[in-house]
Amino acid sequence: MIPSVLPTYNRAPLEFVKGEGAWLTTADGRRFLDLGSGIAVNALGHAHPALVEALTAQAQNLWHVSNLYQIPQQQALADKLVEHTFADTVFFTNSGTEACELAVKMARKYFYDKGQPERVEILTFDGSFHGRSSAGIAAAGSEKMVKGFGPLLPGFVHLTFGDLDGVTNAISETTAAIMIEPVQGEGGIRPVPDAELKALRQICDDNGLLLILDEVQCGVGRTGKLFAHEWAGITPDIMMVAKGIGGGFPLGAVLATEDAASGMTAGTHGSTYGGNPLGCAVGCAVMDHIADDAFLAEVNRKAGLMRQKLEGLVADHPEVFEEVRGAGLMLGLKCKAVNADVVQAGYGNELITVPAADNVIRLLPPLTLTDEDIAEAVRRLDKTAAQVAAA
Ligand SMILES: Cc1ncc(COP(=O)(O)O)c(C=O)c1O
Repeated sequence: MIPSVLPTYNRAPLEFVKGEGAWLTTADGRRFLDLGSGIAVNALGHAHPALVEALTAQAQNLWHVSNLYQIPQQQALADKLVEHTFADTVFFTNSGTEACELAVKMARKYFYDKGQPERVEILTFDGSFHGRSSAGIAAAGSEKMVKGFGPLLPGFVHLTFGDLDGVTNAISETTAAIMIEPVQGEGGIRPVPDAELKALRQICDDNGLLLILDEVQCGVGRTGKLFAHEWAGITPDIMMVAKGIGGGFPLGAVLATEDAASGMTAGTHGSTYGGNPLGCAVGCAVMDHIADDAFLAEVNRKAGLMRQKLEGLVADHPEVFEEVRGAGLMLGLKCKAVNADVVQAGYGNELITVPAADNVIRLLPPLTLTDEDIAEAVRRLDKTAAQVAAA
């Protein structure tokens, strides 16, 4: 008999009842160190007092009003995002997938309104992940995600990750945009080198294309800058954001320049819940903490510490791990053992990590984890690796 929850996930038999900082507690009192953050969501850890306060204060006043009316919390969050990024304007969604939908629509509408309606194609890369909607799976294009779900939304050209010549060769008079994650998350923590992001920006400029960055997983302080593309010194035309921006409350956004957004006039897009007062109140509190030089400096310091310890771990367990990769606190351990076995063994040591493609385990801890948490994480990974090697 089919379970009452549609069985699209292979769930671990773990049930958490409470979270605090980087720690999760099960009903039977076991304390797990969380290096997953709900897949890069709990950027400020679990039950951060400022987020609890923002949410409960808003909940006591007003939960929801339609986007037919003014929403001051939404305005405040949009203003903060505009102040701290390349963007001139923001549309709020409830998820990364919905941000992808709008990014695609926005790019196509841009060219339609500029009198080039034939420009509909978006270039994407293997290993990418942009969500599970029809546009999201068509954009990523992997067999695993699209099989059985056709006919797919047309207009995506899938290229080899890292192949710049392939990008140049794929551009035609029907190309609208390039869409890329500055650091691939689901694809196995694969950072796009700064030089390559710069080159993609240049290719877009030279060919009149829009650059769409998917920072759903790598954004909001995760790499040690507010947004990952800042490391390369470039800016996109359109950016997808979600996960960390809500700190655990479902919230996403599309950020864009005035020009890129020029086609999105009244009536062209909408959302019942997107930009709702509860989500935006929390998003404002997240931004107040993370869009702060001192906070980001701490992320970078802790990322350096963690990476150094992980390099030692890899050197100590060459039969289990191959390398450390990633940026900031978006780290991956490429495994020689089967990554799922390492994740599973970690559960036995009350440690949460997340598998990714390319036989990688992801370490996406709360950005607020402490130095002691880092030391404890590496102790638990060390014990886990020894068990996997012995098995
Ligand atoms: C890079 C990227 N884009 C888009 C998405 C989809 O976001 P959501 O699951 O919030 O719809 C994800 C989710 O993992 C992601 O990592």
